[in-house]
Amino acid sequence: MANIKDVARLAGVSLGTVSNVLNHPDRVSQELRERVERAIDDLGFVRNEPARQLRAGQSRTIAVVVLDIANPFFADLIAGAEDAAAEQGAQVIVCNSNGDPAREAGHLQYLGQQRVLGILLSPIQEAVAAQLLAARRNSPPVVFVDRVPAGPGFASVSVDDVHGGALVGELFTAAGHERVTYLGGPHTLRQVSDRLHGLRSTFRGGEIDVVAAPELTIRAGAAALGELLARPADRRPQALFCANDLLAIGAVNAATRLGIAVPDDLTIVGYDDIDFAETAGVALTTVRQPARTIGRRAAELLLREVTDGAEPTSLVFKPELVIRSSSLPVTAAVAGPPPDRSAGQ
Ligand code: RIB
Repeated sequence: MANIKDVARLAGVSLGTVSNVLNHPDRVSQELRERVERAIDDLGFVRNEPARQLRAGQSRTIAVVVLDIANPFFADLIAGAEDAAAEQGAQVIVCNSNGDPAREAGHLQYLGQQRVLGILLSPIQEAVAAQLLAARRNSPPVVFVDRVPAGPGFASVSVDDVHGGALVGELFTAAGHERVTYLGGPHTLRQVSDRLHGLRSTFRGGEIDVVAAPELTIRAGAAALGELLARPADRRPQALFCANDLLAIGAVNAATRLGIAVPDDLTIVGYDDIDFAETAGVALTTVRQPARTIGRRAAELLLREVTDGAEPTSLVFKPELVIRSSSLPVTAAVAGPPPDRSAGQ
């Protein structure tokens, strides 16, 4: 990609003259202006307007495209991105794909035409990476959040969800559970399938029953719990691992309404450790993701890529198991020390 120095060299003028042609053409003679414009055309130079304006101290915008804006996990992630953006005089706008690939593609198309500094994307499907790679020439820089992209060339900040699922498998094995159900969601979501893969890698108590909820929400969790309890007693789970905290909170609420004791009759474990996990009707055992840190680090990577031309980097965090009241007591050997929440999200 030609830069402003290449234009100055080809036109035989100073960097200041090129900058004036771009920003204050009235200050440049017609002869010099035409020489510079010919060089810009010959080189196919495209100005990096967002980086110029950010360096000039004008506030600019980072777009965050999330799967489900109603999920507190993404609210924390967005808050972290805003913390980092504000420190560098940038703002954040949020687009919600609501799990709809067509809506996600529409957002990316729109943002590709705007002067956003870059995009933080929690994608629905890896295929989006292919589309972005293809459109890379025009789209602003993209950092994947909560997901590692399908191909090279993109920065990402995510969590090792296989490890997170494995922690739950160890917990269920230590508790002696034999009938375990994984309540997932659309398996097109890589994080949902990775959590199941991790559970399978460490659970030793027997077969794992897999149920796919239509969406990862409280309502879907409550509905799924009702269906599980409608089964004959010998096919009901002793332990339920939910793909996220919203499903788990829905399941806990429904179990309580149906007179099921959590954890004595049914252990329920979630994933994310959103604020409501701790304050749920039965405090939720869950796998903690540092959502706010994920958002902050992703925005920092994006801003470094835009302003310093930094190479794309991938950061992967290890999630932690947080034992609370919705699972049976186990030894600290499985649970590990409680996470230090004082360090913030
Ligand atoms: O969007 C669904 C889930 O994927 C969130 O709850 C969070 O776990 C993310 O990884």
